[in-house]
Amino acid sequence: MSFYNIKRSLAELRPLLGVHRLLPLILGVLSVGGFVTPFAAADSPREHLSLDAGWKFHLGDDWPNALHLENSGTGSGPASEKFSDSYWRVVNLPHDWAVELPFDWAADGSHGFHTLGVRYPTNSIAWYRRTFELPKSDEGKRIWLTFDGVFRDATVWVNGWCVRHHEGGYYPFREDITDVLHFGGQNTIAVRVDATKTEGWFYEGAGIYRHVWLDKTALIAIAPDGIFVRSEFEGNIPQGSPEIAVEVRLLNTLTNAAEATVDCEIISPDGKSLKKFSESEEVKRESHGVVKLQSRLSSPILWSPENPKLYRLITTVSVASKIVDQKETLFGIRTVGFDPNKGFLLNGKHYELYGTCNHQDHAGVGAAIPDALQEFRVKKLKEFGCNAIRTSHNPPTPELLDVCDRLGMLVMDESRLMGSDSGNMKKWDDQIRRDRNHPSVAIWCIANEQFMVQDSPQAANVARTMQDYVKQLDPTRAVTYASPEDDAFVGINSVIEVRGWNYHYGPQMDRYHAAHPSQPNVGTEQASVVSTRGIYENDKEHGYCTAYDVLRSGWNTTAEGWWSFFAVRPWLSGGFVWTGFDYRGEPTPYWWPCINSHFGILDTCGFPKDIFYYYQSWWTTNTVLHLLPHWNWPGKEGQEIRVDTYSNCKEVELFLNGASLGKQTMNPNSKLTWKVNYAPGTLSAKGFDAAGKLIAETKVETTGNTTRIQLTPDRKTIAADGKDVAVFTVAALDAQGRVVPVAQNKINFRIEGAGKILGVGNGDPSCHEPDKYLSILPMRSLPVNEWRWKLATIPGDSSAVPEYANDFDDSAWNVLNAKTGGEESTIKTENTTAIYRAHVTLTEKDLKDGDVQIRFAGCDDEGWYFMNNQFVGESHDWQAQPAFDVKKLLHAGDNVIAVSVTNSYAQGGLNPNVNVDIIGKPSVPPWSRSLFNGLAQIIVQSTEDAGEFQLTASADGLTPATAVVQTQPGPPHPSVP
Ligand code: GAL
Repeated sequence: MSFYNIKRSLAELRPLLGVHRLLPLILGVLSVGGFVTPFAAADSPREHLSLDAGWKFHLGDDWPNALHLENSGTGSGPASEKFSDSYWRVVNLPHDWAVELPFDWAADGSHGFHTLGVRYPTNSIAWYRRTFELPKSDEGKRIWLTFDGVFRDATVWVNGWCVRHHEGGYYPFREDITDVLHFGGQNTIAVRVDATKTEGWFYEGAGIYRHVWLDKTALIAIAPDGIFVRSEFEGNIPQGSPEIAVEVRLLNTLTNAAEATVDCEIISPDGKSLKKFSESEEVKRESHGVVKLQSRLSSPILWSPENPKLYRLITTVSVASKIVDQKETLFGIRTVGFDPNKGFLLNGKHYELYGTCNHQDHAGVGAAIPDALQEFRVKKLKEFGCNAIRTSHNPPTPELLDVCDRLGMLVMDESRLMGSDSGNMKKWDDQIRRDRNHPSVAIWCIANEQFMVQDSPQAANVARTMQDYVKQLDPTRAVTYASPEDDAFVGINSVIEVRGWNYHYGPQMDRYHAAHPSQPNVGTEQASVVSTRGIYENDKEHGYCTAYDVLRSGWNTTAEGWWSFFAVRPWLSGGFVWTGFDYRGEPTPYWWPCINSHFGILDTCGFPKDIFYYYQSWWTTNTVLHLLPHWNWPGKEGQEIRVDTYSNCKEVELFLNGASLGKQTMNPNSKLTWKVNYAPGTLSAKGFDAAGKLIAETKVETTGNTTRIQLTPDRKTIAADGKDVAVFTVAALDAQGRVVPVAQNKINFRIEGAGKILGVGNGDPSCHEPDKYLSILPMRSLPVNEWRWKLATIPGDSSAVPEYANDFDDSAWNVLNAKTGGEESTIKTENTTAIYRAHVTLTEKDLKDGDVQIRFAGCDDEGWYFMNNQFVGESHDWQAQPAFDVKKLLHAGDNVIAVSVTNSYAQGGLNPNVNVDIIGKPSVPPWSRSLFNGLAQIIVQSTEDAGEFQLTASADGLTPATAVVQTQPGPPHPSVP
């Protein structure tokens, strides 16, 4: 008897037995006996398809009246199905148009001085469109459209139906679009994005900057984000066999109740089937039902940043023995908690949080970070020992959490704004349900620095409501608030489970802890040290800050200052540095021309600043020995230069050109400082352990001039899936192969083969060079004026009539002048036809310059379009704005356009706003970027072609470099064609 036969027999027996609990019992017994038949995945109707590729994009809102509030299903302009976007730019998601915009000193500096926002209306609203086919066989399924994040204020139409308006730039949103789809035909999604307003005080991007998905499910299926799996150990102490508790929320859109059987299978990190258990429940018609299941796992492998082992839960739903859904959920088995005295506990033991706060922003791409770049960034953070990320100040991209689960990085998962109103609670609900299966998520954060209200009873109420709600949806994690206050125990601080500390260390913290001994603590935001990579003097004119660990702004503490305080107070749980990476916006302490923050331990590209080695010394067990500054100081011979050493060696001896400058002893969590009279050559150091044994050596050398370029990809092979990226470091080398730390050469890039350049950067916080070089489509529009028209007795259709001929004399016809906005109601009665004619003069040059399209602004209701007496196309929808490629019908000199329009309802006619567009060949300007202090970065994305691409970097007077990256077929990413 097969497994399914057993299930079926049990299902048949169940009504007789009337006991649902029997099934897990019996299956549990079976699984102990080593029963490993996997569930049949292929039978599930669920499809989870990427909708990222092939969107059309238009910057500017040329259709302010696209949303019709008086009628359903009739979006106009790009919101209409019939709209022609043939010459819009093609973009793949994720996409951020803010990063494509130039800089302007008059723009919003806290957002990075890009020309976006109220002052730049034509740059601040954009449209995206995409079409897709749905097979007829999908009829009878439910189809969901999910946006992981759009910045911001998105209006979404599907086939002309406005299906959603969503404002929050960081929250996912999803719609069941089944009702308005064409099965067995083409469907159109149009999204208007208005990024005029901001939500934060930092760079936030603009556009569909996260993924978009199309999910197909059966009419009864697992509800979106409907699975919650958690492991529960007795007393939250990770010993013995945890209970694996699974909650499956089902959505029944059938018009009848259905008895659903949920089968769960747990697969070990090494792929073995460990457990199977089942439960059944009746789900009422058109409603949700929750099925709860449990099982025990013996000797689980515990998840931690050091050992990020993931289990898989396969959830299969059957109705009447037929599989209706199946989903895989990755989860980790671990316990997390916060203790007032022991601080953060992972798997029952104190675990120091070596955290960093980060915004979603990277050089070259802005907020639109490909998944592979998320991974690149998490790896960079891990290099200096960071084991936790605070997703400041908003919910993260789900793929960031996937990477954190897989690579081992804890997460403080933060909401954007506090609020207990229904809108905010719905967003909070969505965020928690989406993220709660991720083992990386260790704590929820309800908000950051709500200065104006945080001490009020109202804020305390709101915080309590949000916190209580977490306990309902996720009893496994604690909740904090990033509080910028000292020992104030009022408002939010008085109700929040874990007291978060933004800055303010010192006696207040000890006092607070003594006064509130039962409240755990965590350093939600610390440091805010500003430093520019490779710069060792403050330079207001260029907006650079010295990279020594010194104070600049009023509220910050040095790395050594905050960390040496926290390191000896385990009850503080560790903390999160502001920030891991530099990000656009918040240029501090200088303003324009600086456009970036410099709080990062890494710059916007992920290149380490010196402070990286301070954290690496005290946050990792690697032996670290690092010297700063660089040793290229021509003209400073004989002058005193501050030399710092970041190291975890017990003693460090410094040498200049071989002569010892003495030994110093390193105190834990500190750094060493020396004064050295500059002479070119070699500054070197030796590091010794407590027994006096030499354990590390390092040096910085005065380099020669730059002679060549080096190009190094982070990976030599990437997937040929159109999504994966290789991140290249571009370095300036001298004749001896040493990186020249002051080189600023302009580098030009050329790519050939199966790759496309996504963006360039260099970590210079004041660089105004573009991060993106866009394909340019030269287009000139010749407006067509002086239309003449006449009511006709012919039926409107595509048959030829003398009135379309070029030599027809229309001089006695009525004149129709172009008007701004709206159609002309020249036809006053329904079921009446009129003919419209106009002339356009083209030169030989116009015809040579490229393609020619004629673009109509619409006709009410049906139109047949002719050029030089040749039929070119028709439209049957008053919202359609048809465009036709007419080049082959044109000649130099006079050309005649004729349109026959039949009005079918009320008044109508031709909208005379017609343009003839001369469209040149698209061209991409050559990509380039200057080095900043010896380095730059270029990010290349694969195409879908397996093979390789070659990237070449060249610069005046330098030997160029070429790097080759292989692109190989990888696992398929199911996507909508
Ligand atoms: C904090 C704030 C952060 C950032 C930082 C700069 O107060 O929470 O978002 O602005 O200051 O130091």
